[in-house]
Amino acid sequence: MTTRTRILTGITTTGTPHLGNYAGAIRPAILASRDSNADSFYFLADYHALIKCDDPLRIQRSRLEIAATWLAGGLDVNRVTFYRQSDIPEIPELTWLLTCVAAKGLLNRAHAYKASVDKNVETGEDPDAGITMGLYSYPVLMAADILMFNAHKVPVGRDQIQHVEMARDIGQRFNHLFGQGKEFFTMPEALIEESVATLPGLDGRKMSKSYDNTIPLFSSAKEMKDAISRIVTDSRAPGEAKDPDNSHLFTLFQAFATPAQSAEFRSELLQGLGWGEAKNRLFQLLDSELGESRERYHQLIERPADLEDILQLGAKKARAVATPFLNELREAVGLRSFVSQVQVAANTKKKATKAARFVSFREDDGSFRFRLLAADGEQLLLSRHFADGKTAGQVTKQLQAGQPLDVRNEAAGFSVWLEGECVADSPAFADDAARDAAIDALRVALTPVQD
Ligand code: TRP
Repeated sequence: MTTRTRILTGITTTGTPHLGNYAGAIRPAILASRDSNADSFYFLADYHALIKCDDPLRIQRSRLEIAATWLAGGLDVNRVTFYRQSDIPEIPELTWLLTCVAAKGLLNRAHAYKASVDKNVETGEDPDAGITMGLYSYPVLMAADILMFNAHKVPVGRDQIQHVEMARDIGQRFNHLFGQGKEFFTMPEALIEESVATLPGLDGRKMSKSYDNTIPLFSSAKEMKDAISRIVTDSRAPGEAKDPDNSHLFTLFQAFATPAQSAEFRSELLQGLGWGEAKNRLFQLLDSELGESRERYHQLIERPADLEDILQLGAKKARAVATPFLNELREAVGLRSFVSQVQVAANTKKKATKAARFVSFREDDGSFRFRLLAADGEQLLLSRHFADGKTAGQVTKQLQAGQPLDVRNEAAGFSVWLEGECVADSPAFADDAARDAAIDALRVALTPVQD
């Protein structure tokens, strides 16, 4: 099996996507996710949104709109992992582990924070006036987003390159401090799509909400038409030749047209097509390119419960990666179960080669569980739920006591029993041979180490 490239990016949920966001980020990301070599993780960066926005309704609305936009635009959630950052509790947890190794001096240099300080100094304010710890720590949260999933490539705008570099920096430091030769984190690379056009807005400057020059994406055909009618053009009259290369209306057209359509439009402009008619052509083009997605968008927005389900499924997929990885990282920094700690100490004494180990954890419902991992990290067992840590600990002790194992075959795997009670299950196996091999591995793992 070849390893696919893991591509990860987040979208801060503070606004409603416009045509520029679509052409510049959403459309290319959806296309990239269709590459069979890509393993895409796209998420709503709603924790990041809280840094910039304290209006709960706006946050809520934006999350819904952005989710619907990506899905309406053709994102296939069966191919990609699409989730909300705030549904992954492992992310803030990792943020703290990373905060504890991130150099303050590094974060002092972050552009967004520095810009705010500079502005305060300029206006004679206290340098830290109005600056929250959220803004200051923003790059650490972003590093956690990226490192949690070991992303190889991170498509971002130029303003975010520094943050990806900080993620490398912080990840490297963690690897160095706790990896003991193992690289926990993959070093991510920022991916800047040179070929993707930044769309001009109505006035010809970059399309941006802060310039108030945007064309709406999926709101309604009428709103799109109204915005297009406000595109600034020169004053050449119908019949006069237009200059396509100096017309942002033409640039907008090109971003959605086939080369043949662009060539035709160009020659019509050169032949004196009136601006009113030109705007009409642009509207027709955008409407035919985006009309169907707009329909889908409105259907999705009307069914928030379905969207919720889709995102919950995405969170489940993401957490299947994040939960075991974070357990490993917690172990690495010393946040270990007292049970496994005893294990490790005993092992060191015997100078044993890497042995199988128990990793205990706590479920959201408060119950205690453990995994038994083979020396190579493969999961051998996942325990049932125990009401308290003490019981879970006793069970791991009993399993290691060297007693004959009560192993029972189940449909696709096996279970392990103690005193007439099922205490743990194996993963599912492809066939009986694989199951038998795993039972052997389990017996080896649970054989007390001899000196
Ligand atoms: N900070 C990014 C932006 O404003 C959004 C973001 C949050 C992000 N976490 C990320 C992008 C992780 C890439 C990877 O554009």
